[in-house]
Amino acid sequence: MKDDSFIFWILLLVNGVSDANQNAVNLTLMVGDSVTLNSGLSEISKEDTMRWFFKKEGQNEERIAEITGEKIRLDDLNGIFKDKLELEKKNAFLTITSISSKNTGEYKLKKSENIIISFIVNVKDGVKNVPVIEGDSVTLHTGVILKRDVKWTFENRDLKPSDDQTGDLTITNIDNHQSGNYVLEINNSTMGLNRTYYIALIDGVKKETVKEGNPVNLRTGLIEIKGYDLVLWKTKDVTVAEINKNKNKFLTLDKGDTRYGGRLDFIQQSGNLIIRDSRTTDSGDYDLQMNSSTYSLQRTIRVTVNNSGVATGAATGIVVGLLVLHWCL
Ligand SMILES: *[C@@H]1O[C@H](CO)[C@@H](O)[C@H](O)[C@H]1NC(C)=O
Ligand SMILES: *[C@@H]1O[C@H](CO)[C@@H](O)[C@H](O)[C@H]1NC(C)=O
Ligand SMILES: *[C@@H]1O[C@H](CO)[C@@H](O)[C@H](O)[C@H]1NC(C)=O
Ligand SMILES: *[C@@H]1O[C@H](CO)[C@@H](O)[C@H](O)[C@H]1NC(C)=O
Ligand SMILES: *[C@@H]1O[C@H](CO)[C@@H](O)[C@H](O)[C@H]1NC(C)=O
Ligand SMILES: *[C@@H]1O[C@H](CO)[C@@H](O)[C@H](O)[C@H]1NC(C)=O
Repeated sequence: MKDDSFIFWILLLVNGVSDANQNAVNLTLMVGDSVTLNSGLSEISKEDTMRWFFKKEGQNEERIAEITGEKIRLDDLNGIFKDKLELEKKNAFLTITSISSKNTGEYKLKKSENIIISFIVNVKDGVKNVPVIEGDSVTLHTGVILKRDVKWTFENRDLKPSDDQTGDLTITNIDNHQSGNYVLEINNSTMGLNRTYYIALIDGVKKETVKEGNPVNLRTGLIEIKGYDLVLWKTKDVTVAEINKNKNKFLTLDKGDTRYGGRLDFIQQSGNLIIRDSRTTDSGDYDLQMNSSTYSLQRTIRVTVNNSGVATGAATGIVVGLLVLHWCL
Protein backbone atom coordinates (compact mmCIF):
# COMPACT_ATOMS: atom_id res chain seq x y z
CA MET A 1 0.00 0.00 0.00
CA LYS A 2 2.72 2.41 1.01
CA ASP A 3 4.77 1.51 -2.09
CA ASP A 4 1.81 2.10 -4.37
CA SER A 5 1.20 5.63 -3.18
CA PHE A 6 4.91 6.37 -3.52
CA ILE A 7 4.79 5.34 -7.18
CA PHE A 8 1.64 7.40 -7.64
CA TRP A 9 3.39 10.54 -6.43
CA ILE A 10 6.42 9.90 -8.63
CA LEU A 11 4.15 9.52 -11.65
CA LEU A 12 2.32 12.74 -10.81
CA LEU A 13 5.64 14.57 -10.50
CA VAL A 14 6.94 13.29 -13.84
CA ASN A 15 3.66 14.16 -15.52
CA GLY A 16 3.60 17.62 -13.98
CA VAL A 17 7.11 18.36 -15.21
CA SER A 18 6.45 17.26 -18.78
CA ASP A 19 3.19 19.25 -18.93
CA ALA A 20 4.86 22.51 -18.01
CA ASN A 21 7.34 22.59 -20.85
CA GLN A 22 8.97 25.97 -20.42
CA ASN A 23 11.17 25.76 -23.51
CA ALA A 24 8.42 24.91 -25.97
CA VAL A 25 7.65 27.30 -28.81
CA ASN A 26 4.04 28.42 -28.35
CA LEU A 27 2.08 28.82 -31.61
CA THR A 28 -1.51 29.94 -32.16
CA LEU A 29 -2.90 28.82 -35.53
CA MET A 30 -6.22 28.91 -37.36
CA VAL A 31 -8.16 25.93 -38.64
CA GLY A 32 -7.02 25.28 -42.24
CA ASP A 33 -3.52 26.72 -41.85
CA SER A 34 -0.53 24.72 -43.01
CA VAL A 35 2.48 24.85 -40.76
CA THR A 36 6.05 23.63 -40.87
CA LEU A 37 7.69 22.98 -37.51
CA ASN A 38 11.36 23.77 -37.86
CA SER A 39 13.65 21.22 -36.17
CA GLY A 40 16.42 23.77 -35.80
CA LEU A 41 18.78 21.31 -37.51
CA SER A 42 20.33 21.98 -40.89
CA GLU A 43 21.04 18.34 -41.56
CA ILE A 44 20.56 15.02 -39.84
CA SER A 45 22.90 12.08 -39.93
CA LYS A 46 21.87 8.98 -41.88
CA GLU A 47 22.55 6.86 -38.80
CA ASP A 48 20.19 8.76 -36.54
CA THR A 49 16.57 7.94 -35.88
CA MET A 50 14.49 11.05 -35.40
CA ARG A 51 10.94 10.86 -34.11
CA TRP A 52 8.15 13.43 -33.81
CA PHE A 53 5.65 12.84 -31.01
CA PHE A 54 2.22 14.34 -30.47
CA LYS A 55 0.68 14.75 -27.07
CA LYS A 56 -2.87 15.83 -26.47
CA GLU A 57 -3.50 17.41 -23.09
CA GLY A 58 -4.08 14.75 -20.45
CA GLN A 59 -2.99 11.91 -22.76
CA ASN A 60 0.21 10.06 -23.43
CA GLU A 61 2.49 11.16 -26.22
CA GLU A 62 2.34 9.10 -29.40
CA ARG A 63 4.70 8.87 -32.33
CA ILE A 64 3.44 10.52 -35.52
CA ALA A 65 6.56 10.57 -37.70
CA GLU A 66 9.91 8.83 -37.83
CA ILE A 67 12.95 8.96 -40.06
CA THR A 68 15.98 6.66 -40.24
CA GLY A 69 18.26 7.27 -43.18
CA GLU A 70 16.01 7.13 -46.24
CA LYS A 71 13.11 5.51 -44.47
CA ILE A 72 10.14 7.63 -43.38
CA ARG A 73 7.21 6.39 -41.43
CA LEU A 74 4.07 8.39 -40.66
CA ASP A 75 1.27 7.52 -38.22
CA ASP A 76 -2.11 9.16 -38.60
CA LEU A 77 -3.27 8.39 -35.01
CA ASN A 78 -6.66 6.97 -35.94
CA GLY A 79 -7.22 9.53 -38.63
CA ILE A 80 -6.52 12.80 -36.86
CA PHE A 81 -3.40 13.27 -39.02
CA LYS A 82 -4.73 11.52 -42.11
CA ASP A 83 -3.03 12.96 -45.25
CA LYS A 84 -1.78 15.87 -43.20
CA LEU A 85 1.84 15.01 -42.44
CA GLU A 86 5.04 15.52 -44.38
CA LEU A 87 8.52 14.91 -43.01
CA GLU A 88 11.61 16.30 -44.67
CA LYS A 89 14.45 13.83 -45.02
CA LYS A 90 17.20 16.36 -44.87
CA ASN A 91 16.39 18.16 -41.64
CA ALA A 92 13.34 16.45 -40.09
CA PHE A 93 11.12 19.54 -40.57
CA LEU A 94 7.53 18.43 -39.96
CA THR A 95 4.72 19.92 -42.04
CA ILE A 96 1.08 19.64 -41.00
CA THR A 97 -1.25 20.68 -43.81
CA SER A 98 -4.78 21.98 -43.37
CA ILE A 99 -4.59 21.78 -39.59
CA SER A 100 -7.73 21.10 -37.54
CA SER A 101 -8.65 21.66 -33.92
CA LYS A 102 -8.00 17.95 -33.27
CA ASN A 103 -4.33 18.67 -33.93
CA THR A 104 -4.10 20.98 -30.91
CA GLY A 105 -1.41 19.73 -28.55
CA GLU A 106 2.31 19.42 -27.96
CA TYR A 107 4.74 18.36 -30.69
CA LYS A 108 8.15 17.05 -29.69
CA LEU A 109 11.13 16.03 -31.82
CA LYS A 110 13.39 13.45 -30.21
CA LYS A 111 16.70 11.84 -31.11
CA SER A 112 16.66 8.65 -29.04
CA GLU A 113 15.41 9.94 -25.70
CA ASN A 114 16.75 13.47 -26.12
CA ILE A 115 14.30 16.23 -26.84
CA ILE A 116 15.59 18.36 -29.73
CA ILE A 117 12.72 20.84 -29.84
CA SER A 118 9.09 21.07 -28.79
CA PHE A 119 6.08 23.15 -29.83
CA ILE A 120 2.78 23.87 -28.17
CA VAL A 121 0.25 24.30 -30.97
CA ASN A 122 -3.12 25.89 -30.33
CA VAL A 123 -5.61 25.67 -33.21
CA LYS A 124 -8.44 28.19 -33.12
CA ASP A 125 -11.51 28.55 -35.25
CA GLY A 126 -10.79 31.96 -36.80
CA VAL A 127 -12.75 33.66 -39.54
CA LYS A 128 -10.94 33.44 -42.89
CA ASN A 129 -13.86 34.05 -45.22
CA VAL A 130 -14.42 37.78 -45.46
CA PRO A 131 -17.78 38.81 -46.97
CA VAL A 132 -17.58 42.38 -48.24
CA ILE A 133 -19.67 44.76 -50.29
CA GLU A 134 -18.19 47.15 -52.82
CA GLY A 135 -16.37 50.06 -51.23
CA ASP A 136 -15.55 48.30 -47.94
CA SER A 137 -12.08 48.43 -46.43
CA VAL A 138 -10.54 45.34 -44.86
CA THR A 139 -7.42 44.72 -42.81
CA LEU A 140 -6.15 41.13 -42.73
CA HIS A 141 -4.14 40.36 -39.62
CA THR A 142 -0.95 38.27 -39.56
CA GLY A 143 -0.92 37.75 -35.81
CA VAL A 144 2.86 38.22 -35.81
CA ILE A 145 5.05 41.04 -34.70
CA LEU A 146 7.79 40.97 -37.34
CA LYS A 147 6.97 42.28 -40.78
CA ARG A 148 10.30 40.91 -42.02
CA ASP A 149 8.97 37.34 -41.96
CA VAL A 150 5.70 38.07 -43.76
CA LYS A 151 4.73 37.69 -47.41
CA TRP A 152 1.34 38.40 -49.01
CA THR A 153 0.26 37.26 -52.46
CA PHE A 154 -2.91 37.80 -54.47
CA GLU A 155 -3.29 36.10 -57.85
CA ASN A 156 0.44 35.31 -57.89
CA ARG A 157 1.31 38.95 -57.35
CA ASP A 158 3.22 40.05 -54.26
CA LEU A 159 1.51 42.69 -52.16
CA LYS A 160 3.25 45.08 -49.81
CA PRO A 161 2.13 44.82 -46.17
CA SER A 162 0.42 47.99 -44.96
CA ASP A 163 1.61 47.87 -41.39
CA ASP A 164 5.33 48.21 -40.78
CA GLN A 165 5.21 46.36 -37.51
CA THR A 166 2.74 43.54 -37.88
CA GLY A 167 2.81 43.08 -41.65
CA ASP A 168 -1.01 43.38 -41.68
CA LEU A 169 -2.52 43.94 -45.13
CA THR A 170 -5.14 46.63 -45.70
CA ILE A 171 -7.28 46.73 -48.83
CA THR A 172 -9.35 49.88 -49.20
CA ASN A 173 -12.36 50.67 -51.35
CA ILE A 174 -12.76 47.07 -52.51
CA ASP A 175 -14.22 46.34 -55.94
CA ASN A 176 -14.74 43.10 -57.85
CA HIS A 177 -11.10 43.02 -59.04
CA GLN A 178 -10.01 42.58 -55.45
CA SER A 179 -12.14 39.66 -54.41
CA GLY A 180 -10.41 36.28 -54.22
CA ASN A 181 -7.74 34.44 -52.27
CA TYR A 182 -5.12 36.31 -50.28
CA VAL A 183 -2.27 34.03 -49.27
CA LEU A 184 -0.27 34.84 -46.18
CA GLU A 185 3.11 33.19 -45.73
CA ILE A 186 5.06 33.54 -42.54
CA ASN A 187 8.54 32.14 -42.33
CA ASN A 188 11.05 32.53 -39.55
CA SER A 189 13.64 30.37 -37.87
CA THR A 190 11.09 28.43 -35.79
CA MET A 191 8.28 27.78 -38.25
CA GLY A 192 6.67 28.34 -41.62
CA LEU A 193 2.98 29.04 -42.05
CA ASN A 194 0.56 29.38 -44.97
CA ARG A 195 -2.90 30.80 -44.48
CA THR A 196 -5.47 31.69 -47.13
CA TYR A 197 -8.04 34.41 -46.61
CA TYR A 198 -10.94 34.64 -49.04
CA ILE A 199 -12.48 38.01 -49.74
CA ALA A 200 -15.92 37.45 -51.22
CA LEU A 201 -17.97 40.22 -52.76
CA ILE A 202 -21.60 39.87 -51.72
CA ASP A 203 -24.69 41.87 -52.65
CA GLY A 204 -25.35 44.81 -50.45
CA VAL A 205 -26.29 48.45 -50.56
CA LYS A 206 -23.99 51.38 -49.87
CA LYS A 207 -26.86 53.83 -50.26
CA GLU A 208 -30.16 53.29 -48.58
CA THR A 209 -32.96 55.68 -49.53
CA VAL A 210 -36.32 55.33 -47.87
CA LYS A 211 -39.47 57.38 -47.50
CA GLU A 212 -40.05 58.90 -44.09
CA GLY A 213 -41.80 56.41 -41.82
CA ASN A 214 -40.37 53.34 -43.52
CA PRO A 215 -37.70 51.24 -41.83
CA VAL A 216 -33.99 51.63 -42.65
CA ASN A 217 -32.10 48.33 -42.84
CA LEU A 218 -28.40 48.47 -42.07
CA ARG A 219 -26.78 45.11 -42.75
CA THR A 220 -23.51 43.40 -41.83
CA GLY A 221 -24.02 40.83 -44.60
CA LEU A 222 -23.54 38.02 -42.12
CA ILE A 223 -25.97 35.41 -40.90
CA GLU A 224 -24.02 34.97 -37.70
CA ILE A 225 -21.50 37.22 -36.02
CA LYS A 226 -20.32 34.56 -33.59
CA GLY A 227 -16.65 34.77 -34.61
CA TYR A 228 -16.48 38.55 -34.17
CA ASP A 229 -15.26 40.40 -31.09
CA LEU A 230 -16.70 43.72 -32.14
CA VAL A 231 -19.63 44.98 -34.22
CA LEU A 232 -20.02 48.73 -34.00
CA TRP A 233 -22.45 51.07 -35.77
CA LYS A 234 -21.74 54.78 -35.56
CA THR A 235 -23.15 57.91 -37.10
CA LYS A 236 -21.70 61.40 -36.76
CA ASP A 237 -19.08 59.84 -34.44
CA VAL A 238 -21.75 58.71 -31.98
CA THR A 239 -22.22 55.03 -31.20
CA VAL A 240 -25.67 53.85 -32.23
CA ALA A 241 -25.22 50.13 -31.58
CA GLU A 242 -22.39 47.98 -30.30
CA ILE A 243 -21.58 44.35 -29.59
CA ASN A 244 -18.30 44.12 -27.76
CA LYS A 245 -17.34 40.66 -26.56
CA ASN A 246 -14.25 41.74 -24.65
CA LYS A 247 -16.33 44.22 -22.66
CA ASN A 248 -19.30 41.85 -22.51
CA LYS A 249 -21.44 44.58 -23.98
CA PHE A 250 -24.58 44.57 -26.11
CA LEU A 251 -26.16 47.97 -26.45
CA THR A 252 -27.97 50.37 -28.69
CA LEU A 253 -27.21 54.07 -28.33
CA ASP A 254 -24.83 55.95 -26.12
CA LYS A 255 -26.25 56.76 -22.73
CA GLY A 256 -28.52 59.78 -22.81
CA ASP A 257 -28.96 59.82 -26.60
CA THR A 258 -32.67 60.22 -27.27
CA ARG A 259 -32.62 60.82 -31.03
CA TYR A 260 -34.02 57.41 -31.88
CA GLY A 261 -36.43 57.17 -28.94
CA GLY A 262 -36.90 53.39 -28.95
CA ARG A 263 -37.00 53.09 -32.75
CA LEU A 264 -33.87 50.90 -33.01
CA ASP A 265 -33.82 47.13 -33.40
CA PHE A 266 -30.39 45.59 -33.06
CA ILE A 267 -30.30 41.96 -34.10
CA GLN A 268 -27.91 40.06 -31.87
CA GLN A 269 -27.37 37.14 -34.23
CA SER A 270 -26.54 39.04 -37.42
CA GLY A 271 -25.45 42.41 -36.04
CA ASN A 272 -27.97 44.08 -38.40
CA LEU A 273 -29.48 47.35 -37.29
CA ILE A 274 -33.00 48.47 -38.16
CA ILE A 275 -34.26 52.00 -37.66
CA ARG A 276 -38.03 51.81 -37.48
CA ASP A 277 -40.40 54.66 -38.28
CA SER A 278 -37.58 56.64 -39.91
CA ARG A 279 -37.33 60.41 -39.77
CA THR A 280 -35.46 62.79 -42.04
CA THR A 281 -33.12 63.53 -39.16
CA ASP A 282 -31.91 59.93 -39.33
CA SER A 283 -30.24 60.75 -42.67
CA GLY A 284 -26.46 60.62 -42.81
CA ASP A 285 -23.51 58.26 -43.06
CA TYR A 286 -23.58 55.15 -40.88
CA ASP A 287 -20.16 53.58 -40.23
CA LEU A 288 -19.83 49.90 -39.47
CA GLN A 289 -16.73 48.47 -37.80
CA MET A 290 -16.43 44.69 -37.48
CA ASN A 291 -13.42 43.05 -35.85
CA SER A 292 -12.47 39.43 -35.51
CA SER A 293 -9.10 38.08 -34.42
CA THR A 294 -8.12 37.51 -38.06
CA TYR A 295 -9.40 40.65 -39.77
CA SER A 296 -11.26 43.91 -39.35
CA LEU A 297 -13.69 45.61 -41.72
CA GLN A 298 -14.99 49.14 -42.25
CA ARG A 299 -18.12 50.03 -44.20
CA THR A 300 -20.03 53.25 -44.68
CA ILE A 301 -23.69 53.26 -45.67
CA ARG A 302 -25.29 56.54 -46.75
CA VAL A 303 -28.84 56.80 -45.49
CA THR A 304 -31.29 59.25 -47.00
CA VAL A 305 -34.73 59.54 -45.48
CA ASN A 306 -36.90 61.45 -47.96
CA ASN A 307 -39.57 63.83 -46.91
CA SER A 308 -43.03 62.73 -47.74
CA GLY A 309 -44.76 65.20 -50.15
CA VAL A 310 -46.52 67.11 -47.38
CA ALA A 311 -43.37 67.44 -45.30
CA THR A 312 -41.47 68.84 -48.32
CA GLY A 313 -44.09 71.57 -48.68
CA ALA A 314 -43.89 72.39 -45.00
CA ALA A 315 -40.11 72.65 -45.16
CA THR A 316 -40.31 75.05 -48.11
CA GLY A 317 -42.80 77.14 -46.14
CA ILE A 318 -40.38 77.45 -43.28
CA VAL A 319 -37.58 78.58 -45.60
CA VAL A 320 -39.85 81.22 -47.13
CA GLY A 321 -40.88 82.34 -43.65
CA LEU A 322 -37.26 82.74 -42.62
CA LEU A 323 -36.48 84.71 -45.75
CA VAL A 324 -39.34 87.08 -45.04
CA LEU A 325 -38.21 87.48 -41.47
CA HIS A 326 -34.68 88.17 -42.68
CA TRP A 327 -36.00 90.81 -45.10
CA CYS A 328 -37.90 92.63 -42.39
CA LEU A 329 -34.86 92.91 -40.09
C1 LIG B 1 0.45 29.81 -25.28
O1 LIG B 1 -0.07 31.07 -25.75
C2 LIG B 1 -1.44 31.23 -25.48
C3 LIG B 1 -1.91 32.50 -26.16
O2 LIG B 1 -1.02 33.57 -25.97
C4 LIG B 1 -1.65 31.26 -23.96
O3 LIG B 1 -3.02 31.40 -23.68
C5 LIG B 1 -1.14 29.95 -23.37
O4 LIG B 1 -1.23 30.00 -21.97
C6 LIG B 1 0.30 29.69 -23.77
N1 LIG B 1 0.63 28.35 -23.36
C7 LIG B 1 1.78 28.06 -22.75
C8 LIG B 1 1.98 26.65 -22.33
O5 LIG B 1 2.65 28.91 -22.56
C1 LIG C 1 3.70 27.60 -48.25
O1 LIG C 1 3.64 27.88 -49.64
C2 LIG C 1 4.93 27.97 -50.24
C3 LIG C 1 4.73 28.43 -51.67
O2 LIG C 1 3.72 27.72 -52.30
C4 LIG C 1 5.63 26.63 -50.14
O3 LIG C 1 6.92 26.71 -50.69
C5 LIG C 1 5.73 26.22 -48.67
O4 LIG C 1 6.27 24.94 -48.55
C6 LIG C 1 4.37 26.25 -48.01
N1 LIG C 1 4.53 26.04 -46.57
C7 LIG C 1 3.68 25.34 -45.83
C8 LIG C 1 3.92 25.29 -44.38
O5 LIG C 1 2.71 24.74 -46.32
C1 LIG D 1 8.16 32.87 -35.56
O1 LIG D 1 6.79 33.21 -35.73
C2 LIG D 1 5.95 32.67 -34.72
C3 LIG D 1 4.53 33.04 -35.10
O2 LIG D 1 4.36 34.41 -35.16
C4 LIG D 1 6.33 33.21 -33.36
O3 LIG D 1 5.53 32.65 -32.35
C5 LIG D 1 7.79 32.85 -33.10
O4 LIG D 1 8.20 33.43 -31.89
C6 LIG D 1 8.67 33.39 -34.23
N1 LIG D 1 10.04 32.98 -34.02
C7 LIG D 1 11.06 33.82 -34.18
C8 LIG D 1 12.41 33.26 -33.92
O5 LIG D 1 10.90 34.99 -34.51
C1 LIG E 1 12.43 30.34 -44.12
O1 LIG E 1 13.31 30.81 -43.10
C2 LIG E 1 14.44 29.99 -42.96
C3 LIG E 1 15.20 30.47 -41.73
O2 LIG E 1 15.04 31.83 -41.50
C4 LIG E 1 15.26 30.04 -44.25
O3 LIG E 1 16.39 29.20 -44.12
C5 LIG E 1 14.39 29.52 -45.41
O4 LIG E 1 15.06 29.66 -46.64
C6 LIG E 1 13.10 30.31 -45.48
N1 LIG E 1 12.23 29.69 -46.45
C7 LIG E 1 11.48 30.37 -47.31
C8 LIG E 1 10.62 29.58 -48.22
O5 LIG E 1 11.53 31.59 -47.37
C1 LIG F 1 -10.95 47.16 -34.59
O1 LIG F 1 -10.05 47.15 -35.69
C2 LIG F 1 -9.54 48.42 -36.03
C3 LIG F 1 -8.72 48.29 -37.29
O2 LIG F 1 -7.83 47.23 -37.20
C4 LIG F 1 -8.74 48.97 -34.86
O3 LIG F 1 -8.26 50.26 -35.17
C5 LIG F 1 -9.62 49.04 -33.64
O4 LIG F 1 -8.85 49.43 -32.51
C6 LIG F 1 -10.26 47.70 -33.34
N1 LIG F 1 -11.20 47.88 -32.25
C7 LIG F 1 -11.29 47.03 -31.22
C8 LIG F 1 -12.27 47.38 -30.16
O5 LIG F 1 -10.60 46.03 -31.16
C1 LIG G 1 -35.93 60.46 -52.65
O1 LIG G 1 -34.55 60.50 -52.95
C2 LIG G 1 -34.19 59.92 -54.17
C3 LIG G 1 -32.71 59.88 -54.27
O2 LIG G 1 -32.13 61.08 -53.87
C4 LIG G 1 -34.85 60.68 -55.32
O3 LIG G 1 -34.52 60.07 -56.55
C5 LIG G 1 -36.33 60.69 -55.12
O4 LIG G 1 -36.92 61.50 -56.09
C6 LIG G 1 -36.70 61.20 -53.74
N1 LIG G 1 -38.11 61.05 -53.52
C7 LIG G 1 -38.86 61.98 -52.93
C8 LIG G 1 -40.31 61.66 -52.74
O5 LIG G 1 -38.41 63.03 -52.56
